[in-house]
This record gives sequence, structure tokens and C-alpha cells, in this order.
Amino acid sequence: MKLEGKVAIVTGGARGNGMAAARALASEGADIAIADICGNIETAPYQLSTRQTMDSAVQELKEMGRKALGIECDVRKASDVEAMVKQVLETFGRVDILVNNAGIAGLEALVDMSEEAWDDMLDTHLKGAFLCCKHVVPHMIEQNSGKVVNISSVGGLRGFGMGSHYCAAKHGVLGLTKSLAMETAEHNINVNAVCPGTVWTDMMAGLAEHFGMETADAKENFLAGHLFKDREICPEDIGKAVLWLSTDDSKCITGGQIAVDCGWTARAP
Ligand SMILES: NC(=O)c1ccc[n+]([C@@H]2O[C@H](COP(=O)([O-])OP(=O)(O)OC[C@H]3O[C@@H](n4cnc5c(N)ncnc54)[C@H](O)[C@@H]3O)[C@@H](O)[C@H]2O)c1
Repeated sequence: MKLEGKVAIVTGGARGNGMAAARALASEGADIAIADICGNIETAPYQLSTRQTMDSAVQELKEMGRKALGIECDVRKASDVEAMVKQVLETFGRVDILVNNAGIAGLEALVDMSEEAWDDMLDTHLKGAFLCCKHVVPHMIEQNSGKVVNISSVGGLRGFGMGSHYCAAKHGVLGLTKSLAMETAEHNINVNAVCPGTVWTDMMAGLAEHFGMETADAKENFLAGHLFKDREICPEDIGKAVLWLSTDDSKCITGGQIAVDCGWTARAP
């Protein structure tokens, strides 16, 4: 197995793309710490994971024969992130892989957007990634190895109307990825991003429900940009990309991004 003896932190790992990434890393032997808010954010118009969601994810990883730990952590908060990383180090003794995946979504015109909605979006995606890197990367530098995989989005590569906060955050995540790659290459650390197209997770289903859209209509709308019409992107497809960027199979890639988007961005400028 490619990740035997390695330890990974997956933020927002209780469900969706994060859990699929955790499962993929565990399938190659990594022990996993899931860090998830396990509670709602007022400006996110759908339910986030609960403690129970995280506990069942941890249970599944343990049943795969891995060590697994679930930690309640709001990545917007420096004190939560610091305590989470401390607990992972006390439990496992090292961190080899950091997957910055925690995220929320919303659809709102900029002129109607509250400052709170903007802050929650930027703080979850961008400040969260910054804080996790700030607390994890020093340990990677010390051990002279590490993999950071940031989950951006097609929204990090182009704009979405009604998504200025989401796209600003996801573009920012790519900037952070490139800059951190430059700062850490001499320490044998790879920093990359995955940009998913539409994946029908609880996030997308929750958004559709909030806006009173029928699932079939919502899917048609949200999946319209994909070039392949005969397949949907599954969380497992995101997990596989995260896994590849977390092993030495991708050792020569840093500061890069993989769009798992069924070709959506192929025709974007
Ligand atoms: N689903 C898509 O179509 C899609 C497309 C592109 C990118 N993404 C990105 O993939 C990532 C995962 O999304 P998903 O679709 O699996 O959504 P999801 O809602 O199913 O999972 C997100 C997880 O993040 C957790 N979370 C949210 N805010 C948090 C915070 N402040 N601190 C800690 N945990 C927090 C939630 O509780 C949840 O478990 C996000 O970064 C999202 O932007 C998703």
C-alpha cells in the first residue's frame, strides 16, 4: 500500500467529497483524522454535518482497518485549528497529508449579500486553508516531507453569477496553493489543488432544496457545463484525484491543479 504509516487530516471530512478523499487515502493505508464543524453556519442555506455524521465516517474508516479520529473543528477559528492539529499530533505523532476540503456554498447576488455571508464563505474556504496550513506545514518542514491538497472548484477557474463570494474564495485557494508550493518545495512538500465540477453531494442537494428546485431541474442546471453527458462526477472521482496528489506517483507536480470537471473548463477562457 502506498500510504502505509502515513497520517492524513481531512477537513470537512464527515461526508461528501471529504469523506470520499478520506476513504481513498485509507484504502492505501493512511490513518485519518477528520476535522469537521459538526454544526450549522447561519449563512449557509442548508444543513452541514452533525457529530453523528462524523462518527459514522470514523467508524467506516476503522472498519477498513485504519486508525481514525473525528475532531469537532470550525476551520474559521484559529483556536479550533490549533487544538485540532495538536490533538492529531498527540494521537498519531505526525501529519503527512493535509486535505483542505471544508466548504459551504450559497447563491446570492453581490448587491444583496450580507457582510456576514461574505465573511463566512471566505473564512471557511480561504482562511480555513490558511490556518490549517499554518499549523500543519511546520511539522511537514520538520520531517522534510508532506502533501497538501486544497479543494478548489471550477469556481476557482471562472466566475459564477450569484457566487461572487464562493468564486473569490476558490480563486484565492489557487493563489494560496501556488504561493505555498513556492515556499515549501525546498522542504520536499507538494502543494496542489483539485477543482471539481458539479458533484451531487449534500451541498448541491441542499442548495437545490433551499431554492425550491426539483432535483431533475437542478441537476440539469448545475451539470449543464459538463461536456460528458453520459456520466456524473462522484465524490469518489474527487477522492481518486486527492489520493494521486497525496502519493509519490505525483512527486513532480506542485503548485498545480487538476480539474475533475467532465471538461467544463475546457471552453472557459
Ligand atoms: N459538490 C460540488 O459540486 C463541489 C464542486 C466544487 C467544489 N466543491 C468543494 O468540495 C468541498 C466539499 O464539498 P461537498 O460538496 O462535499 O459538500 P458537503 O456539504 O457535503 O461537505 C462539506 C463538509 O464541510 C463541513 N464544513 C463546512 N464548513 C466547515 C467549517 N467552517 N469547518 C469545518 N468543517 C466545515 C461540513 O460540515 C461538511 O461535512 C468544498 O470545499 C466544496 O466547495 C464541491
